[in-house]
Amino acid sequence: MMKNYRTAIVTGASYGIGPFIVRALAKEGMNLVLAARSGDELEQVATAADIRASGVHVLTVPTDVTEREALSALVSAAERTFGSVDVLVNNAGGDFQREFHNYSADDVEEMIQLNLTGPVELTRLLLPGMLQRKQGHIVNISSLGGSVGFPFTEVYSAAKDGLIAFTRVLRADYRQAGVSSSVLILGPIKDAGTGARTMQEVNLPMSAMGKASMSPPEAVAQAVLKSLRRDKAEIVVMPGPGRFLRALMTLFPGMGSAMNQMTGSTHTMKQVADFRERQREQLNEQTQARI
Ligand SMILES: NC(=O)c1ccc[n+]([C@@H]2O[C@H](COP(=O)([O-])OP(=O)(O)OC[C@H]3O[C@@H](n4cnc5c(N)ncnc54)[C@H](OP(=O)(O)O)[C@@H]3O)[C@@H](O)[C@H]2O)c1
Repeated sequence: MMKNYRTAIVTGASYGIGPFIVRALAKEGMNLVLAARSGDELEQVATAADIRASGVHVLTVPTDVTEREALSALVSAAERTFGSVDVLVNNAGGDFQREFHNYSADDVEEMIQLNLTGPVELTRLLLPGMLQRKQGHIVNISSLGGSVGFPFTEVYSAAKDGLIAFTRVLRADYRQAGVSSSVLILGPIKDAGTGARTMQEVNLPMSAMGKASMSPPEAVAQAVLKSLRRDKAEIVVMPGPGRFLRALMTLFPGMGSAMNQMTGSTHTMKQVADFRERQREQLNEQTQARI
């Protein structure tokens, strides 16, 4: 077990990268509180053979992180069951994969709530207890999207870059008091999660360069453990010099767009955005037909 950490909340634990993080923390002997909207999928993760074999206690709490009351209920359920929470992994997140000019004001709000306001509020709810016990660690899962100006991710990237800044200041303010914070800045992830699912769904070919830039979901889980064990401020999860790439993009902000054109990301993401728009139109037509 890391430090005296006994209990962790992991959001976005139902599918994608989340279950990999859950399994890694279970191996460390931590009691786990799993949150996401889909209760059945959470149960499947909680009752998987390797989790049961780890002997840890697991609580599943169906939660929509965009709803403030649901976050209070999640924290209450976790504290009622395990007494206190030492680690929060804010992993739930996602993007509509649509062009920004097609967003409604509600779409903007939902993206910010999912990727920024939800994690901030969960942290706010847990922080007083952690400060009282002089022990705790917040791990936020962000993205390289903003740094590389990844196509059509205006709102998602704004929220994820916001999460990086939030973590940095939170860490500076509370680390001396025993509560630390880390942010994981993910490049593209293969085999599980939203990127891998989108490639399959839209039936997109993957270039050799694209493949070479991807990390397995296990690398994210290992980065979570590393952030807790070694108390890292920021970890870039990407093969090769991810940190260097991030620094380079800050020095030369126009470079990302040129790189996206060159690697074909702009073309690929346009195909994805068009696919999502068609999906949305079909859904609207079906809804109209039912009325
Ligand atoms: N995969 C990548 O290539 C990549 C790259 C950079 C950053 N990231 C970040 O890594 C994290 C995990 O991504 P992923 O690829 O594993 O995504 P994913 O496969 O789409 O899974 C997202 C998880 O978040 C949950 N979730 C979504 N909306 C939610 C809501 N409103 N309330 C509560 N839970 C919600 C989902 O469960 P329910 O649907 O059941 O709620 C699911 O468990 C995200 O923060 C993402 O931004 C991923």
